[in-house]
Formats: sequence, C-alpha cells, structure tokens
Amino acid sequence: MATVTFDKATRIYPGADKPAVDQLEIETEDGEFLVLVGPSGCGKSTSLRMLAGLEDVNGGSIRIGNRDVTHLPPKDRDIAMVFQNYALYPHMTVADNMGFALKIAGVNKSEIRKKVEEAAKILDLSEYLDRKPKALSGGQRQRVAMGRAIVREPQVFLMDEPLSNLDAKLRVSTRTQIASLQRRLGITTVYVTHDQVEAMTMGDRVAVLKDGLLQQVDSPRNMYDRPANLFVAGFIGSPAMNLVEVPITDGGVKFGNSVVPVSREALSAAADKGDTTVTVGVRPEHFDVVEHGAGDTKTLSKDAPAGLAVSVNVVEELGADGYVYGSAQVGGQHKDLVVRVGGRDVPAKGSELHVVPRSGEIHVFSTSTGERLSD
Ligand SMILES: Nc1ncnc2c1ncn2[C@@H]1O[C@H](COP(=O)(O)OP(=O)(O)OP(=O)(O)O)[C@@H](O)[C@H]1O
Ligand SMILES: [Mg+2]
Repeated sequence: MATVTFDKATRIYPGADKPAVDQLEIETEDGEFLVLVGPSGCGKSTSLRMLAGLEDVNGGSIRIGNRDVTHLPPKDRDIAMVFQNYALYPHMTVADNMGFALKIAGVNKSEIRKKVEEAAKILDLSEYLDRKPKALSGGQRQRVAMGRAIVREPQVFLMDEPLSNLDAKLRVSTRTQIASLQRRLGITTVYVTHDQVEAMTMGDRVAVLKDGLLQQVDSPRNMYDRPANLFVAGFIGSPAMNLVEVPITDGGVKFGNSVVPVSREALSAAADKGDTTVTVGVRPEHFDVVEHGAGDTKTLSKDAPAGLAVSVNVVEELGADGYVYGSAQVGGQHKDLVVRVGGRDVPAKGSELHVVPRSGEIHVFSTSTGERLSD
C-alpha cells in the first residue's frame, strides 16, 4: 500500500499547442479510493497513463509512496491496471488469464495456483476457473480482469472506465462490488470515469478535471455541498443544479418577486470584481414551493405572489418524488428550471408554481470568473 502524488504533473502531446494535463496536483492517502472524473477529453486517461508509466511526463513529477516514479518503466512501479476493454487472452482459461503476469514474473506454479484461487474466491469466480473467457458473461469477464490485477498484490490499482462495457444494471451492481472489494483489500486506487454518479458513489474523494485543469478535489459530500466553481456546480448532481444570473440588490439577490439573502462577503466580493450580478445556484431539492405571500424571504411587491413563477412544462414522476421541468423569467431572461417536489404533490402540466430558494441552501458564484463566492 502507498500514497500516490501528482506533483504539478504535466503532459504535452507532441505537436499539441496546450497541455492535455496541466500541472496536476493531487495527493491520495494510503488506501484511498480516488476517482478522476470529467467530460470527454479533459485528461483523465492521460493522468492515469502518466501514473502507469505509459505516457511521458513533460513537467512536474509523480510519486508512489516516497518513490519518485516519474521516469521509471511501468513494470518497476508496482501498479496493476484494469482497462475498459479487459483484453483477456481468448485461448487461455480464466485461471491462466489471472495468473499470467505471475507466470511471466517467474513465480512457481503452486504459488500461482494459490493466489489465483484466493482471488477467484474474493471475486466469486471459483467455479469458472477452467472456462475460456468467451463462455463468461460481461460482468464475469470484468471480474477476471480485476482478478488479474488482484493476484499481483500491487501497491496501487489503476482503473480506466472498467465498467463501460457493461449494461446499465450490471454497471450499478459491479460498481458496488468494486468499491467494497477495494475497501476490503485496502489498496490505494485511482479510478477514471466520465460518469459523475459513479464518481460520487464510489470515491472516498473525487477529482474533477476540465480541459486538463484540476477544478476541485474533495469528498463527494463537499463536492455536492460546496462546489468550487460554476463548472463543478453544473457537472456534479443529477438533475443538474439550476444556475441563474440575478441582479444584486440591498442585502441579497433579486429572485423573481423575492429578495433572497446572501452573505455580505459574497456580495462585496462580487462588487470588488465590478459585477452587478451574481450567478446563483439552487439544487432542484432546495426550492420551496410557496403559497401567496408565504416563504421565509422578503416579498418585494405585496400584490404579487412571493418567489419566482415557474410554468410547468414536464413533470417526471418517480414515485417517492417528482421533478418539475419548467420555465421562468429571471433577471430579464427566459430560463429553464428543475424543481423537485414530493411524490404526492406533483403539479399539473401547464400550471404555475411559485418557488423560493431555501435560505442557507443557495450557492453564489461570480458571474465574471465562475468562482464560488458564498461559503
Ligand atoms: N496519443 C495522443 N496524442 C495526441 N493527443 C492525445 C493523445 N491522447 C489523448 N490526446 C488528447 O489529449 C486530451 C486528453 O485526452 P484523454 O484521453 O486523457 O481524455 P479523457 O478525459 O480520458 O477522455 P474520455 O472520457 O473521452 O476517455 C484530448 O484532447 C485528446 O485529444
Ligand atoms: Mg479516457
């Protein structure tokens, strides 16, 4: 077991005008499950491949424990990698596939057999050891690929979208298996996915990348509760956080017919940048539906209902709750919004709702820089 450190690690592909990964700085703890997540092309695989030794590092360094591995060949790094296409050898049995790396390393036969059987037991593959990969399901093949990594007892596991070949249902069950297996083995793991739900459910911590730049590295809880900027705010969470640009008024922001209180610090930070608006983020579950004049916020006009009028376009009923997809006029703009409502209180399509963001649950971002202003 070991820590993994990216110390300003940079990769510039030959002929590229900007780095694919730009001064990446992350330090994992020993035994931690770290997930790298971000949209396609943001540099996730490149980061992992630098750690694996499959990609040159053009600046900065990478350490495993206190060993500088920046320029070590992959075989000397004590890592095991699980790829998206598990690339099992089709002519070999499951047992031979799992033990292959040990055989190459010159480990004796009985030792290999013992390790393979142990791994097979952990992965629930014992009864398939003599089969060929083509006689296995997708999920079983994926577990063989995991087994191949486990038998090597590496210091670090690297996984690049290992579940993307599986169907949706199997993905969900396998992600739980991988996460619990990792916790049991306690081997430091760096896991790449473009799926934010997978990232949030599996990781001890999650690192969000965009255009080769690290946006935030945090626990799933903090990532959700305190996104560092507009990009992370919009990327993490499903349905996504509502983000609306609203004018700053005395003591808060104008949200339809209500003033929503915002901390003085956030407002003055915006004013310091010369901004007259801020971008407010409200998660779908953080709107209160209000009756005429109700809600805990100040109403601007006595004659109009409090909050923001949302006309209901689509209602998605999920049983326990429902999502209202609607539109509203905010800050002089037409805006699509998503509001979560109780499963028994779903409004009719075409009706109008009045919503107020729950105080204390709004996120304030600088409109000009995108950075978080509220704490
Ligand atoms: N071998 C290569 N040569 C040149 N450019 C590359 C190479 N591999 C990747 N890139 C570029 O580097 C950037 C990052 O690619 P990378 O494969 O790391 O993205 P990713 O986050 O893994 O994306 P995905 O989710 O699609 O797998 C992209 O702009 C990509 O086009
Ligand atoms: Mg990739």
